[in-house]
Amino acid sequence: MWRSEINDAVLDLVAAQRGERVVDIGAGMGAGVVVAGRSGAFVVAVEPTPFLRRVLRVRRLMQRARKRIDVVDGSAEQLPVDDRSADAIWAVNTMHHWVDTHRGAAEIARALKPGGRVVLVDEDFQNPSHPDYERVGSEHDSDDHHGFTLVDAASMGELLERAGLVDVEADERLLVSRPVIAVSARAPG
Ligand SMILES: C[S@@+](CC[C@H](N)C(=O)[O-])C[C@H]1O[C@@H](n2cnc3c(N)ncnc32)[C@H](O)[C@@H]1O
Repeated sequence: MWRSEINDAVLDLVAAQRGERVVDIGAGMGAGVVVAGRSGAFVVAVEPTPFLRRVLRVRRLMQRARKRIDVVDGSAEQLPVDDRSADAIWAVNTMHHWVDTHRGAAEIARALKPGGRVVLVDEDFQNPSHPDYERVGSEHDSDDHHGFTLVDAASMGELLERAGLVDVEADERLLVSRPVIAVSARAPG
């Protein structure tokens, strides 16, 4: 949770640049936030869980980039950022928590600047080839949604497209040797 290879790989895809405004949806303990902060970007860490926001705020204080990091209450369905204000948005291992993926896609489209980019990645822990399958995935059969919305790449891609984003790519692939659902797109312009 402090650092994760999957967040490092997603941040490579996001390629946050110095001075950009970027948003981590469901930032957790900030594995992606600190990487983006080091790149010189201004980071909005959106986190709905009060305990995780507290942890992340303490972690923020230990970062050189702390003045460029904001930790805020919010969710995919309610992004606390202005319209057309984000150069890049990403989410790692949160899509399966979103209660309304339609609303989440609309929020991303609203918040992105023209030309802004989004990368959404969820690890597929229920795939036996996932290195943590025995520990996490095998406890739940595929019909056990344990209260979460199961997300598939194609339908999330469609939602982003319907929300007005372009260059949508949605697939299942390996990222740092882990099976993931990956969806990326950008705002037109
Ligand atoms: C498995 S953690 C991933 C945290 C972080 N992205 C990471 O990769 O370390 C899932 C996160 O999603 C957050 N979450 C839950 N519901 C959410 C929602 N509707 N929108 C955005 N994030 C949500 C949780 O609070 C938690 O921080």
